[in-house]
Amino acid sequence: MTDSYISDRAKELKPSGIRKFFDLVANTSGVISLGIGEPDYVTPWKICGSAINSIQQGYTMYTSNAGMPELRQAVCDDLNRRFGLQYKSENCMITVGASEALDMAARAILNPTDEVIVPEPCYVAYPAVVELAGAKVVSVPTYEKNNFELHAEDIESKITSKTKAILFGYPCNPTGAIMSRERLLEIAELAKKHDLIVMADEIYERLTYGTEHVCFASLPGMQERTILLGGFSKAYAMTGWRIGYALAPKDILDAMLKIHQHVIMCASTASQCAALTALKECQDASKAMIDDYNRRRQLIVGGLRRIGFSVFEPKGAFYCFPNITSTGLSSEEFAEQLLKQEKVAVIPGTAFGDSGEGYVRCCYATAIDDIREALTRIQRFVESLKK
Ligand SMILES: Cc1ncc(COP(=O)(O)O)c(C=O)c1O
Repeated sequence: MTDSYISDRAKELKPSGIRKFFDLVANTSGVISLGIGEPDYVTPWKICGSAINSIQQGYTMYTSNAGMPELRQAVCDDLNRRFGLQYKSENCMITVGASEALDMAARAILNPTDEVIVPEPCYVAYPAVVELAGAKVVSVPTYEKNNFELHAEDIESKITSKTKAILFGYPCNPTGAIMSRERLLEIAELAKKHDLIVMADEIYERLTYGTEHVCFASLPGMQERTILLGGFSKAYAMTGWRIGYALAPKDILDAMLKIHQHVIMCASTASQCAALTALKECQDASKAMIDDYNRRRQLIVGGLRRIGFSVFEPKGAFYCFPNITSTGLSSEEFAEQLLKQEKVAVIPGTAFGDSGEGYVRCCYATAIDDIREALTRIQRFVESLKK
């Protein structure tokens, strides 16, 4: 088969650095995985039960393209109440995970000559959705010494007449960083000054530890220039249900909806019923999981620091991002050798962009005993490097 059938865009798209690493993990037995970014919990039973019930009651057809009206309203009510926003259900669509929401947002607003500012290290899909929409990614590195926060002055130096949008996600995958209100206000000023749209992926907004999340759209004047993306995968342990959402000014949302109507139709009906139950009845279950992630966070950060790594304290999501430069290995070498020698899977920081060099991502949504064992193995690995 000749590759002349493959589109240039598909050819140019880089394969996910995470997937590449998982192929290695799949061929090794007895691995403790701090690799994959998903909760180790099963979805709370009440959520599962509501989906089963919806099927038994015959809710097996398409919903409206934008999603069940009750769910769209519930998403708006929840965000409006917690962040002082003014969304109506016409501003909200239900998507197949935040993943689809990201893709729809990029395709709805980007033209081929547009540039999008994307901080690095970042979630692997950000550059991909921008490039698939034909636009150009302009990376802005973030640094451990700045708590991996995005600084307005670093963005401003990259703005050109072609810059259309900024795409960021806080709490951040892979660093665990959150953004302070002050820093976000500076970015809001910049967005106004240069007339930019902000795509804010806030899928981890409920997973913060001791510091409240600031919703970008809640900043003065920002609801009208933000596409707010979120979902149920992380806070309710619902990765397999594939439910997310996007909120945006009505004209942008309508453009996203037009694409979604053609390529998706609607998100799964049973999953939408489950998401409604999650939002309305399962905050306690979600909170209990988040409290548990916090205990695991303290265990892994403390453990890695005792081994001798410099570890930025993650304030959100469920990742920590230790600096491994003291080992003399590159991120890829560290991850590959650790996997081969001690059967612990972590993701090289470079999977999240070039500025992830010198770091690895460890997901701590993993059983406490596995985290303890992984720390013992990592310590043994680091000591073996000294010999
Ligand atoms: C930052 C970020 N955004 C979006 C997603 C996609 O989430 P979903 O399962 O809702 O598609 C992920 C999943 O890992 C993520 O880490």
